[in-house]
Amino acid sequence: MAKLIDVSDLNIYYGDFLAVEDVTMTIEPRAVTALIGPSGCGKSTFLRSLNRMHEVIPGARVEGKVVMDGQDLYGSDIDPVTVRRQIGMVFQRPNPFPTMSIYENVAAGIKLNAKRMKKSDLDELVERSLRGANLWNEVKDRLNRPGAGLSGGQQQRLCIARAIAIQPDVLLMDEPCSALDPISTLAVEDLIEQLKLEYTIVIVTHNMQQAARVSDKTAFFNLAAVGKPGKVVEIDDTATIFSNPSQKATEDYISGRFG
Ligand SMILES: Nc1ncnc2c1ncn2[C@@H]1O[C@H](COP(=O)(O)OP(=O)(O)OP(=O)(O)O)[C@@H](O)[C@H]1O
Ligand SMILES: [Mg+2]
Repeated sequence: MAKLIDVSDLNIYYGDFLAVEDVTMTIEPRAVTALIGPSGCGKSTFLRSLNRMHEVIPGARVEGKVVMDGQDLYGSDIDPVTVRRQIGMVFQRPNPFPTMSIYENVAAGIKLNAKRMKKSDLDELVERSLRGANLWNEVKDRLNRPGAGLSGGQQQRLCIARAIAIQPDVLLMDEPCSALDPISTLAVEDLIEQLKLEYTIVIVTHNMQQAARVSDKTAFFNLAAVGKPGKVVEIDDTATIFSNPSQKATEDYISGRFG
């Protein structure tokens, strides 16, 4: 079930380095929120802080709050492993498990999470996930072949199938199309359009057209100078950000006059 995430006064550190400063935003359910901004402004760092993947880096920590449907994800009673199951992630490069078959790749996350499942139930969940990722028709006759044998675009949809197989509430995507050709990119964008009916989606992209096509809200991150923290300049409806942003820095960035 899609969930709302409320971020308030979030500071994100790598050791002593404040990488992202003072983020406050609401991420809405059943919608796509795009994060845009120049390299190094902290988009990936912010994304990883939402599902507690940031802190796996030694010395990395956050201050502030990330609240999902009323629950503080950084509360002392919260298990980060549970958070990562509720908030799935898809990375820039498709990363299927290379020695596993297509079927095993999708089942991998389920097996880690579900204790024991009947083979027929697992088959059904694998099929449902592959259908959900718009990949079923292309792979149904070769489920036992290696996942690494798929095209880049298919591999990325396989990773999305793996992410949705564990039935998360939120999907985080860090430049999921940057390694894909235009046709695969459109396939993944179509998929995002469908997934948002059920999930809360946050996507980082360097592609302005993509942000305009797939997202409902857009947050523009920027940094004053190298070594300074990244900040959210503004967040608004995507149509507003791209047609009538309130900040000049946003306008410069989206119209390519940045830097
Ligand atoms: N593991 C790390 N250890 C220390 N500093 C890091 C680490 N990862 C990122 N940083 C720093 O944090 C800042 C934000 O980096 P981040 O990767 O979040 O930016 P980004 O907006 O995703 O950039 P890009 O568009 O290039 O992917 C940068 O100054 C970066 O050098
Ligand atoms: Mg990044």
